[in-house]
Amino acid sequence: MRNLNQDTITQAVIARLATTPDPRLKEILTSLVQHLHAFAREVKLTEEEWMQGIQFLTATGHKCDDKRQEFILLSDTLGLSMLTVAMNNDKPAGCTEPTVFGPFFLEDAPRFKLGEDVAGGASGEPCLVHGTIKSLDGKPVPNALINVWQADADGNYDVQYAHLAKPQARGILNADENGNFYFKTILAEAYPIPTDGPVGAMLKATKNHPWRPAHLHFMIDAPGYEKLITHVFRDEDQYLESDVVFGVRSSLVADWKKKPDGTYDLEYDFVLNPVKQTAKA
Ligand code: BEZ
Ligand code: FE
Repeated sequence: MRNLNQDTITQAVIARLATTPDPRLKEILTSLVQHLHAFAREVKLTEEEWMQGIQFLTATGHKCDDKRQEFILLSDTLGLSMLTVAMNNDKPAGCTEPTVFGPFFLEDAPRFKLGEDVAGGASGEPCLVHGTIKSLDGKPVPNALINVWQADADGNYDVQYAHLAKPQARGILNADENGNFYFKTILAEAYPIPTDGPVGAMLKATKNHPWRPAHLHFMIDAPGYEKLITHVFRDEDQYLESDVVFGVRSSLVADWKKKPDGTYDLEYDFVLNPVKQTAKA
């Protein structure tokens, strides 16, 4: 492998991957090289631009720590996260649609009983959230495990505050035996994703805003069903058509009703996809 030129280098790199024992790794790396080289050829990448790309990715890595994942943010804003969700969650019609996970989930959120307030002191208008978890055939799914998380009225998740004593605006609860759930929280508001890193610079350079429409995150798990990771969005939010991470599905937009006493009410039912039964041997 000598004297490689712009016409022969791609095949030379691919040939070197031929020894990869893991067939899936081989497939992914081969395709990556093909597309990466094709991209460089298509845009006639200059050496200065190559260096800028390296610096951008380096800065993206430097921005990451145990609380901040700038690479996920980059994937989100380039639509790769939503593409991956869409490709891997092809559910039958009638199931609740999934959307992006986002970077603000916490594994060990506080536990709550039905009816309790998950806000934990987070700022925002009071809101009651309730509904039923159902199977595709319309029957209730009993006792599903529900994780919820959201930003406060200032557009921040608890993990974005440096010195909070305990988690806020997130929690874990179980639906009852009839699939019903209800809890208090705060009204979801639109918020900008973090813009103080390379992703923010990219959005600025492309004249795109950093806003996500108001939403409440749900992760719902029940034995015998596919895990559902989704949001419920607020109707009439100005960013529904231009979500910075491309996550909006019409079926996930709901009417968060304002009640006469000024508090809000969200009713939303979720439909889970039963795991396919494999034939017994
Ligand atoms: C979120 O909804 O929490 C989120 C999703 C993608 C990027 C940033 C935030
Ligand atoms: Fe969010």
